[in-house]
Amino acid sequence: MTARALLADLPAYTALKEHAAKLQFASMEGLFNADSNRASTFSASAAGLRLDYSKHLLSASALSSLFELADQAGIRESIEALFSGAHVNTTEDRPALHTLLRASSGDGQESRFQEVLSARNRMQVMAQTLYRGEHNGYSGKPVTDVVNIGIGGSDLGPRLVTQALKPYHGDVRCHYVSNVDPADLLDTLSTLDAASTVFIICSKSFRTEETLANGLAARDWMLNAGATVAQLEQHFLAVTTNLQAAKDFGIPQENCLPMWDWVGGRYSVWSAVGLSCAVAVGWENFSEFLAGAEAMDQHFRTSEAHNNLPLLMSLLEIWYCHFFHASNHVVLPYDHSLQRFPDFLQQLTMESNGKRVSAEGQPLDYGTAPVLWGSAGTMGQHSFHQLLHQGTLLCPVDFVLPLNSHTGADQQHRILVANCLAQSRTLMVGRSLEDARKALLERGLAEDKAAALAPHLAMPGNRPSSVITMDSLNPRTLGALLALYEHRTFCSGQIWRINSFDQWGVELGKEISTEILGQLTDARDDSAMDAATDRLISLWKEAQR
Ligand code: F6P
Repeated sequence: MTARALLADLPAYTALKEHAAKLQFASMEGLFNADSNRASTFSASAAGLRLDYSKHLLSASALSSLFELADQAGIRESIEALFSGAHVNTTEDRPALHTLLRASSGDGQESRFQEVLSARNRMQVMAQTLYRGEHNGYSGKPVTDVVNIGIGGSDLGPRLVTQALKPYHGDVRCHYVSNVDPADLLDTLSTLDAASTVFIICSKSFRTEETLANGLAARDWMLNAGATVAQLEQHFLAVTTNLQAAKDFGIPQENCLPMWDWVGGRYSVWSAVGLSCAVAVGWENFSEFLAGAEAMDQHFRTSEAHNNLPLLMSLLEIWYCHFFHASNHVVLPYDHSLQRFPDFLQQLTMESNGKRVSAEGQPLDYGTAPVLWGSAGTMGQHSFHQLLHQGTLLCPVDFVLPLNSHTGADQQHRILVANCLAQSRTLMVGRSLEDARKALLERGLAEDKAAALAPHLAMPGNRPSSVITMDSLNPRTLGALLALYEHRTFCSGQIWRINSFDQWGVELGKEISTEILGQLTDARDDSAMDAATDRLISLWKEAQR
């Protein structure tokens, strides 16, 4: 691969610096006053989602410079490379074809697509059998509970989707265990009957320590409950690229669904990694989820920049990170069933784009992925929104708001919506010192007290936020939402010139943990790591005596 210009070398970068220098003193409300169409001009929609990005420190000319930047970074070519199966994961020399997992045709990837279809068909049969309660456990009782054991991408995606689609659940309950802390598995098992429980060991590599330890503990639990070794196959399924390791674990091949090395763990919920979701919501709904993502893929691949949701959201990320020194990004779903969305996005964005060298290995002299965090509204309002409104950090926010609720509790939903819109507006308008002072006088405070208190009530405003709406959260819009953020992440990675599809930074910690585990298991006190680690190892050993 030839070295491409880094972000700061692109011609549009200088123009953008100038736009930012002007816009940092602009008032968002002033921008609205100057353009009565701003709310509709700075909005776009696709695949059942609408993006309102009007409340940003952004002018039409800054936006066109951002489009030029994307052009100069070769974003069009990058998008084609992604979809056509080029080896965009350069360090591992393979494609990143998660889009093929939700595609309805092979589009140049015929042989891979046939493998996807055959896995999808097998997955459908397994999912429907479980969903309909037609699978019996060792005692002949039908299975009522499925436990997905996995971590990272083998947990966060399926866990989010299952929770988000709660109104679509059938009778079988799905649970998720990921932490190697035994409390996670024990808490889950304490509510279950082994005879009617199935485990899905979900691990792309089938080498992940936490997942294997939990899998073995689940196996022991099943045996202790009375299942024979031969009957375990009625209770264990696997999703993996490593069929041999699954077989060694004791899961027969017919109970294993495949994955492929050309799908990253954090992009894998569309594969058999989503089996637990399909069990929870049934195959028809799972297919709708794939269809929503495919609609977003088509939009992303074919839409012009000014209407391209993932690209627009990525350019906003680049804009604030590079020209306004934002190092945080906040995502606030105003829908309780999306409370896991920030967790999912943390892996997606920070494992993908938390990189410090270019795809060609050159150290970067600019920042890459911001820290992403958030929680479901309105809880955050009573916790960290104080910092969003009056803190010293600039934290651009994405509000995610389904316009209709499945609950039928109209008044509560109205309150939820009012709060979401109020937060976005408050971030923009803030409150001037003078308005704060007047409000205090109206409350009956004396002049001197009002003047003293006013600085604490004043809010700078002008803080950026986007609002993503959908008519309702359903399998289709959920699929589109996840694919939107996947492609946003991809665009930013391409503009930053990094490889968004590897994660070498997690390896060293695993190696050191194996070394330390050896020390913890060894009765002798001869650890020779750094003094601090040695001391902590001794403390732990002492506590065991
Ligand atoms: O350690 C990080 C990671 O490799 C993630 O990228 C991945 O999603 C997770 O671990 C789980 O990996 P696996 O599915 O192979 O168990």
